Amino acid sequence: MCGIVGYLGKKEKKEILLDGLSELEYRGYDSAGIAIIEDKKLSNFKAVGKIANLREKTKNFSSDGFGIAIGHTRWATHGKPTELNAHPHLGEYSYVVHNGIIENYQELKKELQKEGVNFLSQTDTEVIVHLFEKYYMQTQDSFDAFKKTISRLEGAYAILLISKADTKTIFFAKNGSPMLLGFDKKDIYFASSDTPIIGKATQVYYLEDGEYGYAQKGSVALFNRDKEVTITKQALVADKTLAQKDGYRFFMEKEIYEQSDVMSDTMIGRILDNSVYFEELDATFLDTITAIKICACGTSYHTALASSYLFERLAKIRCDVEIASEFRYKEPLLDKNTLFITISQSGETADTLEALKMAKKAGLKSLSICNVDNSSIVRESDTAILTRAGIEKGVASTKAFATQMMVLWMLSVQLGQKRNTLSQEQREVEIEAMLQTPKALIVTDTLHHKLNRLSKRYLHGHGFFFIGRDIFYPLALEGALKLKEISYLHAEGYPAGEMKHGPIALADSELFTIALMPKSMHYDKIKSNVEELSARDSTILAISSEPFDLADDFIQTEHDSHPMLEFFEMMVVTQLLALEISIRLGNDVDMPRNLAKSVTVE
Ligand code: AGP
Repeated sequence: MCGIVGYLGKKEKKEILLDGLSELEYRGYDSAGIAIIEDKKLSNFKAVGKIANLREKTKNFSSDGFGIAIGHTRWATHGKPTELNAHPHLGEYSYVVHNGIIENYQELKKELQKEGVNFLSQTDTEVIVHLFEKYYMQTQDSFDAFKKTISRLEGAYAILLISKADTKTIFFAKNGSPMLLGFDKKDIYFASSDTPIIGKATQVYYLEDGEYGYAQKGSVALFNRDKEVTITKQALVADKTLAQKDGYRFFMEKEIYEQSDVMSDTMIGRILDNSVYFEELDATFLDTITAIKICACGTSYHTALASSYLFERLAKIRCDVEIASEFRYKEPLLDKNTLFITISQSGETADTLEALKMAKKAGLKSLSICNVDNSSIVRESDTAILTRAGIEKGVASTKAFATQMMVLWMLSVQLGQKRNTLSQEQREVEIEAMLQTPKALIVTDTLHHKLNRLSKRYLHGHGFFFIGRDIFYPLALEGALKLKEISYLHAEGYPAGEMKHGPIALADSELFTIALMPKSMHYDKIKSNVEELSARDSTILAISSEPFDLADDFIQTEHDSHPMLEFFEMMVVTQLLALEISIRLGNDVDMPRNLAKSVTVE
């Protein structure tokens, strides 16, 4: 999501900032900006879209004397991706960049507006720079003004601030959002992760929550609760790819661990006063629709399928789902009152894009759910909801799947609100469960270790059946797809109740059943289906919060107060199982054979 870079020293500052921001591009963003003070002159550039646009705007600018510089990539949360909302934000004579969320910004904004401050952006960040200038006016002491400013902020932040009031100093603070300091001789760097400064700084200090201070030529003063703290520098790794993986063995592993955090990003600004709200959908967009049709491929097809249960159950609206490559050639009958939804991680999948064009031609309203802004599918759709998973590098999709599922769940609740099919109480239950989701996605050491040990028992056999019912059937399909993609073992997802209609003939001890047994949904039904397989000697790995005696192996889950919480927790288990099996088999987890991240051919 958002990224920060800062620099204090004599080198060409524009290049350090632009290079650093480019290193953060993989996190995803929709605007970028820089501010530089050199020789008391303040320069600022912002651009919507890619860093290349910012490069173009700054091509005639250079800054190679001593100076201070801050830069930012922004992924829109409060307010649209516009230049006005892009960081750095300006007061009268100071600039700020910020990652995180200032939870009390509305209260602070009102206070400042009453005092005559004019706000230019819709962001929470802008209050920081105005607060700083207000306190500077009172004290004429820039560090004191900065300290007073951060003492007023509630929420998460990593902040860099520069001001014409003190042209040789960068002020910084960290609480809940990552930030580090880099050092090389007299040069001082700042960044929200270490990739932007690798190859530039030689030593690093990772700031702790509650730390703040200021940097001046060759020195940094660091404080925590008013006490000065000693900086213990450590050597900075030199390998960028290793750093981008943050110590994980593969991007896919890192992305599985990131799911808890990105899920909060998916929800930010979209759950307000016990209601779901997507600013991307204007008030009348959903008014005339009487049915939903969803088209997608692969993993995105699985979220589509799972969401069809939610749309029908929560919003009481008919929802059909089709694999895009099938839809294209079946001469489908389309009704103008049907909302046509496409789901795609990349936004470039050829079959999905063509299906969308067909629906548009037939006069249907279209909505895409996508992780990549400005992708072909997003541009082609009437409107789009971005999943905000950040760039996903592993070919086998994990966090994109999770965030798609969250958006669809939220959308089904929003439709339920609109169609009055959900009571206030039901709505509160859904929203409370949504807010609990990040917790259900946390990967514990115990779980990961257990799956690592278990994986060695599942490297052979003549196949895997992932089984589940209801929304756990699409999750079974997804679990099987993950395993197939990266382990090259044969795996199928199946509705649990359907096994006895054929596949059970395959059951023996060399057939592995991965049973998704949610406590909160049809538990007794799935239990009987698993018992039938156990009776035929299939080797069973059961995943449930309820201990199950007939299982050969058992993973106990924790969050069973709502089916979606069980869904997300079991999703993590199946992802880690696939990952560990693939690693044991020595496969390239991130780039499995024969597969591409973006499938732009039919
Ligand atoms: C997911 O692990 C796969 N790599 C694949 O099934 C993917 O979901 C499919 O190709 C659709 O891609 P999209 O979401 O980018 O449209």
